Amino acid sequence: MSEEPNESTGQEETTTGVSRRSFIKTAAAVGAGVLAVQGMGRKDAMAAEDVKREAKAASAAAAGGGAKKLSDVLKAAREKMYPRCRVCPECDGVACSGEVPGMGGIDSGRAFRNNLQALAAYDLKMLTFHEVKKPDTTLTLFGAKLSMPILSGVTGGVTYNMGLGGKVGEEEYAEGIIGGCVLAGTMGFAADGIGDPLSVYETRLKTVSKYRGHAVAQIKPRTQAEIIERIRLIEQTGAPFFALDIDSAGRASRALPGKTVETKTLKQLREIAKSTRLPFLIKGIMTPEEALMALDIGAAGIVVSNHGGRVLDHTPGTARVLPAIADKVKGRMVVLADGGVRYGADVLKMLALGANAVLVGRPLVRGSVGGGAEGVALMLQKMNEELVVAMTLTGTADVKKVSRNILA
Ligand SMILES: Cc1cc2nc3c(=O)[nH]c(=O)nc-3n(C[C@H](O)[C@H](O)[C@H](O)COP(=O)(O)O)c2cc1C
Repeated sequence: MSEEPNESTGQEETTTGVSRRSFIKTAAAVGAGVLAVQGMGRKDAMAAEDVKREAKAASAAAAGGGAKKLSDVLKAAREKMYPRCRVCPECDGVACSGEVPGMGGIDSGRAFRNNLQALAAYDLKMLTFHEVKKPDTTLTLFGAKLSMPILSGVTGGVTYNMGLGGKVGEEEYAEGIIGGCVLAGTMGFAADGIGDPLSVYETRLKTVSKYRGHAVAQIKPRTQAEIIERIRLIEQTGAPFFALDIDSAGRASRALPGKTVETKTLKQLREIAKSTRLPFLIKGIMTPEEALMALDIGAAGIVVSNHGGRVLDHTPGTARVLPAIADKVKGRMVVLADGGVRYGADVLKMLALGANAVLVGRPLVRGSVGGGAEGVALMLQKMNEELVVAMTLTGTADVKKVSRNILA
C-alpha cells in the first residue's frame, strides 16, 4: 500500500553458475563472520541467529512456491504481475511509461528512462595488469555489516502499483524483500504508504523487528506529529537508521482527505533530526545545495534519488547529478543512490560517481513477487557476482574505495 494515496531437492540447481544452496550456505557463513567481526554479546548473537533462522524459513517458504532459478522467478513474477509489470528483459521504463500508479515512471516516463540513460553514459575502463584478485564487496553502514553495497529500494503498493490484490499481501511482499536481503547478507526497507493507517505501518514494522538490526524503514513526509509518532515506533525495531522520502510531497494534491504529505522547511527537518538518536536519511536529494542543507540540519545521510522517475517528470538521471552532490558531502554523511541500477556494473558506476551504496527498486519487486525471499536473494546474488567481475576487471580492490578514474 505504500506510495499511493488511496491504497489501502536433492539436486543442485544453478543460477549464473552458482548453486542456490551453496549461496544460501555462503550467506549464512557471511552472517556468522559478521558476528565474529563485530564481537557481539551473547544476547545480540542470539538475536542474529534468530534473524538468520527467519530468513531461512522465508526462503524455504519461497522454495515451496516453486521458485528455483532466476528465470523461474521472473516467469512467476510475469504471470502474477502482467499487465501491471511486463517483466521486460530490460527494465527501462519504455513499456510502462506513464504508469503511475503502476510500475512505471510518471507522465511521459522520461525521468525513469533518464536514470538508465545517465548510467549508460558511462562505460568502464578495463584494466587487467594489477594485483586485485579477490575484490572486497563488504561495508559497514551505521554499524550494520553488509555483504554487498546493495540494499533494497523502498517499494510497496501490492494492489495499487503491482496489481496483485488477493495474490500477494503487503506483509508477504515485505517479508520477501527484507528476508531476501537478509539472506543475501544485506538490508531491506519497509515502506510507508500515504493512505496507510498507523496500524498497517505497525504491522509492517513487525517484519523490521523480526530481522532486528538488518532492516530499515521509511516514513512519508507527513505532518510533524505523525512523523515523530512513527519514529518512536521505528526506534523499537532495532533498525539502524530510517529515511524520509521527502519527494513524496508532490503527491499532496492526490492525498486522501486527512492524509497530509508536504514539503518541509529547514526548521521542520531540523526538528525531525533532533527528535531521535537514530540516524536520519533524506531520500529524494537531487542537487548539491539540498545535500548541503541536509547535512546542515543534522541528517546522517541522503539518498540521491528521483524516486525511480515516479514523482516529477523531466528530472535528470541520478547518475548525472550524483558526482556534484558527492563532491560536496561525501565523507561527511552517508551518500546512497538509486535509479536504474540493474547490473553489477551499474553498482560500480554509482560507487565511482560517489555513492557509498545503492538501492535497487524494480528488479527486487520482481524477485519478491516471483520468488519471495529466495527470489530477492537470487537477484542480489547475481548483481553482486557481476559487481565482483566488474571490480576485478577495473582493478578495484574494495567497494569502500572506488576511483572515478575507472569510468570511461
Ligand atoms: C512500485 C514502486 C513503489 C515505490 N514506493 C516507494 C515509496 O513508497 N517510497 C519511496 O521512497 N520510494 C518508492 N519507490 C521508489 C524506490 O524507492 C526507488 O527510489 C526506485 O524504484 C529506484 O529506481 P529503480 O526502480 O529503477 O531501481 C517505489 C518504486 C516502485 C517501482
